[in-house]
Amino acid sequence: MVCYPIQVILVVCGITSLAKGITMSGNGTSGGFTVQENSPLKLTCSSSIDMSYITFAVRELQLPKLIISVGYGPSGCAMDPQLSYLSCSCVSKREYVCVIRNVTRDMSGKVWFCFPPGGDITDNSGDKTIVVTIGITALSMVSPAVSSVSVIDNTARQFRCETSAGNPLATVEWYKDNGTQDRADDILITTGTETDTRASGTLIVTFGKVTLTVQRSDHEVGFSAGQTTVEIGFTH
Ligand SMILES: *[C@@H]1O[C@H](CO)[C@@H](O)[C@H](O)[C@H]1NC(C)=O
Ligand SMILES: *[C@@H]1O[C@H](CO)[C@@H](O)[C@H](O)[C@H]1NC(C)=O
Ligand SMILES: *[C@@H]1O[C@H](CO)[C@@H](O)[C@H](O)[C@H]1NC(C)=O
Repeated sequence: MVCYPIQVILVVCGITSLAKGITMSGNGTSGGFTVQENSPLKLTCSSSIDMSYITFAVRELQLPKLIISVGYGPSGCAMDPQLSYLSCSCVSKREYVCVIRNVTRDMSGKVWFCFPPGGDITDNSGDKTIVVTIGITALSMVSPAVSSVSVIDNTARQFRCETSAGNPLATVEWYKDNGTQDRADDILITTGTETDTRASGTLIVTFGKVTLTVQRSDHEVGFSAGQTTVEIGFTH
């Protein structure tokens, strides 16, 4: 049997601020602002009218904190202040871009927006929330924790596995291994499965459980979770 983690991505709806004629889009998934930890996120601030510069800001407890202004100065595109984690550019007077080079988990939940010179910074209709996803990097068999287990023919036995901490929530699926390396011919187990979770801050550990009545015909079928393979033997 093979236990796989499946990531479920939450959908975040984007709202565009038509009122102030300026919109911020992101190149992540699910509306543009969901991004995997340690990957770049491009924020594009665009408008239907020319702007000499724009400012990106983060709204913290309703109070905007200005991050960076990008615009056309005497010697071309300029940004103020210079921030090592952002790389900004002027596409045109109607489009400015800043790339967060490497999104970190502490950026999750931060509300970003951009506004033009003289723009109303209390207008939150263009606010976008960055959601940082943290991939499952490991999956281990916790019970049985040994690589080989003997079971009595036709008796129920529980198998449990545990994922590394991630976000969003992972779904654990159990498959019966067909004896080949190829996962495509593995059979999904649909009965006797259960999933539990334990959250620590924004990170979630998922526990998968399956109770199976192992039959003689399952002899030498492998159970595996991640790199761990559990061989099933029989006591006669
Ligand atoms: C992103 O930042 C993390 C933490 O500072 C670092 O470990 C990682 O190597 C960085 N990734 C890239 C692609 O720069
Ligand atoms: C978003 O844009 C950045 C900068 O152009 C790029 O490195 C990254 O691969 C893009 N991400 C996606 C998901 O296309
Ligand atoms: C294994 O896969 C092959 C090819 O898909 C199939 O013919 C066979 O019935 C499978 N065996 C088991 C035990 O599921």
